Amino acid sequence: MKKLILDLDTGVDDALAISYALGSPEVELIGITGTYGNVLLDQGVRNALAVTDLLGHPEVRVYKGLPHSSTIDSFTVGEISAFIHGANGIGDVDIPDSGRAPEAEPAVDFIIDAVKTYGKDLVYVPTGPMTNIAAALAKAPEIKDEIGRIVLMGGALTVPGNCNACMEANISQDPEAANALFHSGAPVTMIGLDVTLRTLLTYKETQRWRDLNTKAGDFLADMTDFYIKAYETTSPHLGGCGLHDPLAVAVAVDPTLVDTLDINMKVDLEGPTRGRTIGDEKRLNEPALTTKVAVGVDVPRFLDEFMTRITALAKH
Ligand code: BDR
Ligand code: CA
Repeated sequence: MKKLILDLDTGVDDALAISYALGSPEVELIGITGTYGNVLLDQGVRNALAVTDLLGHPEVRVYKGLPHSSTIDSFTVGEISAFIHGANGIGDVDIPDSGRAPEAEPAVDFIIDAVKTYGKDLVYVPTGPMTNIAAALAKAPEIKDEIGRIVLMGGALTVPGNCNACMEANISQDPEAANALFHSGAPVTMIGLDVTLRTLLTYKETQRWRDLNTKAGDFLADMTDFYIKAYETTSPHLGGCGLHDPLAVAVAVDPTLVDTLDINMKVDLEGPTRGRTIGDEKRLNEPALTTKVAVGVDVPRFLDEFMTRITALAKH
């Protein structure tokens, strides 16, 4: 069975990504590694523990990652993140703290150990900045050939960014880490705004969760409604909220949900386009193309899988 590690800055869509993974019997979620972004590292780890408990899966281990990128020595949450995900990251919905603590092993070591244990069966899904996986690849470069795949949520190839014209949020937090990942030689699938802004959720779907009359259903509906409401202000033309992080998990489970372009990617690190994810002109003709960028998505099939899996999970 395929093993998954989710690397999350647990905000609203990260919590939906956890739900999708737990609702997918084809894969085993062997751990969550925490990162920073939508919230500070500690809050993200707290959310991952609390959400897995609430969804009835206290067996999922949570590991603490690095608190900020290696190029800046601190991290503060942006105003827009708090507006979109709530000050607590999960739509300002109050859920009980877990009695559990994160594991003692640091996330970077856990990632390396998991690659050594599961090899090609392991799919790693980062849906925040790429800081942890870049650190793991720096510490143990050989894991690039041993891991099954890295399915990341981040970047944009055919559409503008969501922080500015060039930058998508996850890449913006640590462009150097994402660039190192694209250059590492590891097999990467990039699920960027090109596809995640086509997979939208509305109040109609969240009402189905509320109608379940369960704690999990109420939590998912309340949290996601906060996120949809924020999207009404930031992106009124969309008519719903983007299912960024759950789409990455869905592709990790079933790669046939997207059409991809094989290309070697880079991240611009200098000047006004800093943070832009684009084809690397210096590696265009290399025989090995290591990144698959999703440029098309089967929207009805994904939304159907999303609702079926998460609704079944939230029934209990
Ligand atoms: C990404 O940024 C975060 O706000 C979301 O959780 C998602 O991972 C979308 O750009
Ligand atoms: Ca995220």
